[in-house]
Amino acid sequence: MKFFVDTAEIDQIKELNDLGMVDGVTTNPSLIAKSGRDILEVTKEICSIVDGPVSAEVVSLTADDMIAEGRKLAKIADNIAVKVPLTWDGLKACKTLSDEGNMVNVTLCFSANQAILAAKAGATFISPFIGRLDDINLDGLELIDDIRTIYDNYGYETQILAASIRSANHMSECAKIGADVATAPANVIKSMANHVLTDKGLAGFMADIEKAGIKIL
Ligand code: E4P
Repeated sequence: MKFFVDTAEIDQIKELNDLGMVDGVTTNPSLIAKSGRDILEVTKEICSIVDGPVSAEVVSLTADDMIAEGRKLAKIADNIAVKVPLTWDGLKACKTLSDEGNMVNVTLCFSANQAILAAKAGATFISPFIGRLDDINLDGLELIDDIRTIYDNYGYETQILAASIRSANHMSECAKIGADVATAPANVIKSMANHVLTDKGLAGFMADIEKAGIKIL
């Protein structure tokens, strides 16, 4: 499973990218607003750091405007994936932009039916939002599983990009289901390293190291 980091914060992207933990980046208007930076400028900087796809989201609601914005975003760098919302206009924009050879990420997906339409419109990525479904007492992981089954049934090439990930558990469950990509905040990716028995075991080793005066350097 590929890891995308879900942020527009350059220091977080650099730290994970240097460790080989980043296969791409996703941004959205809320993350761009949080960064306090100009969308074109910060997106360009991210594209210069990361080799993989960098999702940059359109900010209009009509297909024509989304297409114009998508073309402008796509000119930033070769690794831009234009992100469009899963509306009828967004699907129209997806079809046009993907026919023109751009990577397109269709976002705000909350149902299997929406995911089928995105695949038929030529989406490179479909972004089902796990956490926001869990927030309203639905099962976000079940949606990832349903989309995996449907895409495999028909050989759709659209990649499942599990989004709105809130925990390390979401990451391993997505990997078990077979999501192609998971995008998560940097703190969630880093939390995958944590285990209470690792901490406990290390504390025991450190106590013995101190007692025995073991030194290597
Ligand atoms: C990624 O593409 C999405 O914009 C993001 O994962 C949304 O996450 P949130 O529900 O935590 O805002």
